[in-house]
Amino acid sequence: ARHAQDILSPEFAEDPYPSYRVMRQETPLVWHEAMQSYLVSRYEDVERAFKDATFTTENYGWQLEPVHGRTILQMSGREHAVRRALVAPAFRGKELQDTFLPVIERNSRELIDAFRQQGSAELVGQYATRFPVNVIADMLGLDRADHDRFHGWYTSVIAFLGNLAQDPEVTAAGERTREEFAAYMLPIIRDRREHPGGDLLSALCSAEVDGTAMNDEDIKAFCSLLLAAGGETTDKAIASVFANLLRHPDQLAAVRADRTLIPRAFAETLRYTPPVHMIMRQVAEDVPVSGGVIRKGSTVTCLIGSAGRDEERYADPDTFDIFREDLNSTNAFSAAADHLAFALGRHFCVGALLAKTEVEVAVGQLLDAMPRLRLAPGEVPAERGVFTRGPASVRVEFDAA
Ligand code: HEM
Repeated sequence: ARHAQDILSPEFAEDPYPSYRVMRQETPLVWHEAMQSYLVSRYEDVERAFKDATFTTENYGWQLEPVHGRTILQMSGREHAVRRALVAPAFRGKELQDTFLPVIERNSRELIDAFRQQGSAELVGQYATRFPVNVIADMLGLDRADHDRFHGWYTSVIAFLGNLAQDPEVTAAGERTREEFAAYMLPIIRDRREHPGGDLLSALCSAEVDGTAMNDEDIKAFCSLLLAAGGETTDKAIASVFANLLRHPDQLAAVRADRTLIPRAFAETLRYTPPVHMIMRQVAEDVPVSGGVIRKGSTVTCLIGSAGRDEERYADPDTFDIFREDLNSTNAFSAAADHLAFALGRHFCVGALLAKTEVEVAVGQLLDAMPRLRLAPGEVPAERGVFTRGPASVRVEFDAA
């Protein structure tokens, strides 16, 4: 039988959804000894943890500091509000449309051009893991010749953050990456202060809110956060949209015929198979939740992957259906109405609109380039990962252009 303590087991990694269901029904608030954390699994409890200021992100320090330095994700209160206001404008509607949409379209096209004649592709390795990271590097205005190095740092940061088994080599590689990344970024940041351009890095250098600006170290830490927050998440989201649609050919055909359905396919994917399954919080005082109490000072893990399958919130939650009625998002910032995959409240994903724009471009361009798209014979896009989760591979065939 499934239960909360099996989170770190191979069965859970293979398919976490049965365990989530048992938790929601039998132990909606439960202490997990090995994780040294409470777990909450119901939609309403996860939603509350994101909205209620008693739940802070102070606990992130030891996890993120060694690889990123101090970022907005670890901050709370006024410090967080000011720091977030410094970075958020670059990720809003007009800025994105004018400055970054061409960058997004170009990076997508370049990756697709490498395989569009071939009639087959593996979408995770050949597209999804590359595209969002290339977009971030280009948005920052880094030398395109450095994209491969940037991608290497990305891989090492992700490995560090996902290092559940505490493999010392992965830890050492993560720490080395922090140094290499700083040695690479800091001179570029200093140069951009002298010679500003139209890129994101220049915007970050000149941003000012209430007399506060970011120093070089702040900017470098934020860029490092972007690798993890904007790379791995979007990468898994794109792979999952395709995995879900390919397993539901009628819905794939509907999206192909009507591209205005892409935001629905994205929102339903974020509910059904979110890239981030678990988010941690720490409580500043005792909090009563689902019949129990989370004790002051302790850590609570919010199970986003479970919230998306909560039968109290969604009709027929284990069915992927882009036409479902309890989903109405066409705007990333109305995501709050649909799912918790971007969190909510003060730490609501800064990059939600960027992610939505990337997915719209990715799905649109890939569908155009791959007529009669289908899964390769024998391919089953199996999901991997516990804290973050997405298909290990999506091998497809199509009619070559
Ligand atoms: C925060 C998910 C794409 C940048 C978050 C959080 C979640 C999330 C769950 C909240 C973390 C927490 O509260 O502990 C996602 C998903 C994405 C995505 C599912 C793709 C589908 C992006 C992109 C960027 C980005 C493309 C930027 C390039 C950030 C940043 C934060 C954040 C900077 C921290 C916000 C803060 O602490 O105030 N994201 N994200 N994300 N995300 Fe995203």
